Amino acid sequence: MRLDRFLANLPCYNRQQVRMLLAQRRVRLDGEVVTDPKAQVREFSRVEVDEQLLQGGHLARYLMLHKPIGCVSATQDPQHRTVLDLLPEALREGLHIAGRLDFNTTGLMILTNDGQWSRRLTQPATKLPKQYLVHTESEIGDHYVGKFQEGFYFAFEDLTTLPARLDILGPRLARLAIVEGRYHQVKRMFGYFDNKVIGLHRETMGSIRLDPSLQPGQYRALTADEIASV
Ligand code: URA
Repeated sequence: MRLDRFLANLPCYNRQQVRMLLAQRRVRLDGEVVTDPKAQVREFSRVEVDEQLLQGGHLARYLMLHKPIGCVSATQDPQHRTVLDLLPEALREGLHIAGRLDFNTTGLMILTNDGQWSRRLTQPATKLPKQYLVHTESEIGDHYVGKFQEGFYFAFEDLTTLPARLDILGPRLARLAIVEGRYHQVKRMFGYFDNKVIGLHRETMGSIRLDPSLQPGQYRALTADEIASV
C-alpha cells in the first residue's frame, strides 16, 4: 500500500496532516526518512512517525521442516497431528504452509508468515522447480520420460501439466522435478501409467534443499541466502 494511504487510514491523521508529516521529514520507513507519498508499505515494513512505531512490531519468520509421514499439511485438523504441532507454540502464530504435502509424503516443507514471499515460491507462473524422490509399486519404463516432458491432461482442472523432468534412478525409483503444485500431482502423473506411488519425498523447492541434518519432525530457520534465493 502507498505510504500516504497507509498513514491516512490511521485514526490519528487526515490527508492534509499526512502531507505535512512527509514534507517535514517526520516519517521513517524501515529506518530511512521518506518524503515520497508513493513509497510502498509492505507486510513487514517498519513505519515510524516522530520515532513512534506504527507498524513493524512483528518479524518475518521463514522455517524449513522435515515433514514426517503421518501428519497433515494444515494449520488445524480435528483428527490428526499437523505440521504446526511439530513447532514450539511461540513460533506458530501467523504461519502458513508454502506448498502442501500429502499425509504420507515426507521431506521439505516451508512455513512462513510472509505471504508475498511464499506466493513466489508456489505460484506456477514463477516456474520454480520442486524436486521429489518417487518410489513406485511397478517398474518405471523409459517411455515415461517423454510423457512427463510432454505433460498430462488433468480433466478436473482442464489443464495440461507443464513440462516435468523425470530421471529414472532404478527399476522403481525416480527423481522428478515439477514446476507446479497441483492437487496430488505426482501421484496422478504416475497414475496415468497405472503405477502407484508408494513413497514420496520432497528434496528441494527452487534452490532450497532439505537440510540433511534435520531428522523427520525437526526444523530450522532458513538462512538469509535461502530466503533471498526465492
Ligand atoms: N504430489 C503428490 O501427489 N503428493 C504430494 O504430497 C506432493 C506432490
